[in-house]
Amino acid sequence: MANDTIISMKQVCKSYTMGTETLRVLKNIDFTVKKGEFTAILGPSGSGKSTLMNLIGCMDTLDSGSYLLSGIPVHETGEKELVRLRNHEIGFIFQNYHLIPTYTVMQNIIMPLLMRGADRKTAEKDCGEVISMLGLSDRLRHKPSELSGGQRQRVAIARALCSKPTLLLADEPTGALDQSSGTEVLRLFTKLHEMGNTIVMITHDLNVAKWAQRTVRIVDGEMFEDAS
Ligand SMILES: Nc1ncnc2c1ncn2[C@@H]1O[C@H](COP(=O)(O)OP(=O)(O)OP(=O)(O)O)[C@@H](O)[C@H]1O
Ligand SMILES: [Mg+2]
Repeated sequence: MANDTIISMKQVCKSYTMGTETLRVLKNIDFTVKKGEFTAILGPSGSGKSTLMNLIGCMDTLDSGSYLLSGIPVHETGEKELVRLRNHEIGFIFQNYHLIPTYTVMQNIIMPLLMRGADRKTAEKDCGEVISMLGLSDRLRHKPSELSGGQRQRVAIARALCSKPTLLLADEPTGALDQSSGTEVLRLFTKLHEMGNTIVMITHDLNVAKWAQRTVRIVDGEMFEDAS
């Protein structure tokens, strides 16, 4: 595998079994993402987007097929290494931000670094550049409840970036935002892409997907590459 490949999935299948019924959600997915790409995964509700995101994010395991993340065979990896991959390789961005409400903006942003054993002063210093790039410098002592939705999402993006992840993985990042804050977040993604970050963004909205450099569609658990 070329070493500029971040995601390499081959013939990935995932089913859910409830009682006697088996629902085949992902069917023989082949999906490759190269370093520096900005890819949108587009599909309607129930098509398997979140299921695929959970696999990409090492939060769930495949039934069959293979998945290499930065060359690491996730499909044959144990829980301990999966935790490491989640924490070190992937920056998660969710529709509802997933910020800790009792923490300040700064505490939220540095939390992943503290969990890795960094001391507070060093962590704050290391996050300084990202904080000013995202325009959060004058909001650091605020609690999430004192911010707008767009600002909250920028805090979540700052938190993801500070870990210097191999991959930014976003699930409906503009889903809870109004049009103009959503556009602001998508502009930011474009800038992060231009700076060399690898981004996978999941959405049901074609107008959101249009911001990406490349779009793949999921239809009934099968993946199709959009002609660009
Ligand atoms: N843990 C689970 N157990 C059983 N079925 C599940 C589970 N998670 C998802 N499913 C089913 O798998 C299918 C795909 O679900 P998934 O959440 O991946 O869709 P989605 O594309 O993310 O939809 P949405 O846009 O509504 O978020 C759905 O039919 C769903 O009901
Ligand atoms: Mg979903």
